[in-house]
Amino acid sequence: MKLFKCRICRDPYIGTNKPSHCPYCGAPQSYIVSAWGLEEDDDFELSELSRANLEHALMLENSNALFYRCAKEVSADEGLSLMFKALAKIEAEHASIIRKVLGLPRPTEIEDCRGRCHAWEQANLSEANDREKKAIDFYLKSAEEAVEPRVKEVFSALVEIEKTHLELLGSVAESLADLVRNHTI
Ligand SMILES: [Fe+2]
Ligand SMILES: [Fe+2]
Ligand SMILES: [Zn+2]
Repeated sequence: MKLFKCRICRDPYIGTNKPSHCPYCGAPQSYIVSAWGLEEDDDFELSELSRANLEHALMLENSNALFYRCAKEVSADEGLSLMFKALAKIEAEHASIIRKVLGLPRPTEIEDCRGRCHAWEQANLSEANDREKKAIDFYLKSAEEAVEPRVKEVFSALVEIEKTHLELLGSVAESLADLVRNHTI
C-alpha cells in the first residue's frame, strides 16, 4: 500500500497505485504524487486580478455545487441521481480549494439547494452542460492571467477537470437519446 496526495486539493489517498483521477477533486493522475514529497509553499501574495478571478470562481463553484445537489434530489433515475451527486461533491471540493487559496474560512451553514435547478432531468442535463462550458472558459482565462504558480496550477487543473465533466455529460446525454430512440421505434 502506498500513500499519495493530490497537488490540487492536497488530500491524501491510500492505494496500490495512483487513481486515474483524484477521488475528491477529480484532478487527473498527473497531479497525484507521493505524499512524502516536499511540502507546498502556500505563503504568497495574491495579485488583485487573481483575487477577483478566485472570488468569481468561488461563486461559480458554490452555485454549481448547489445546482448539482438540487439535480440529484429531483432525479428519479438512480444513475442520473448518482452522477449529479458525484458532480455536487466535486464542485463543493473545488469551492473549498478556492476558499483555501483565498484564505477564507469554511462556511458554517449548508445552503438550501431547493429551487436551484429544474424539475425535469433533461433540462438539468442541458443546464449542466452550459454551466461546465462557462466554467471552462472562465478558468482558461483565469489561468492565463495568473502570475502566482499555485493559482495558475489550480485554474489549469480546474479546466482539465471541468472538461471531464463535460465529457461525462455528453456520453450520458447520448445514451439517454439512444434509450428514447429504442423505445419509440
Ligand atoms: Fe468545479
Ligand atoms: Fe464541473
Ligand atoms: Zn484532488
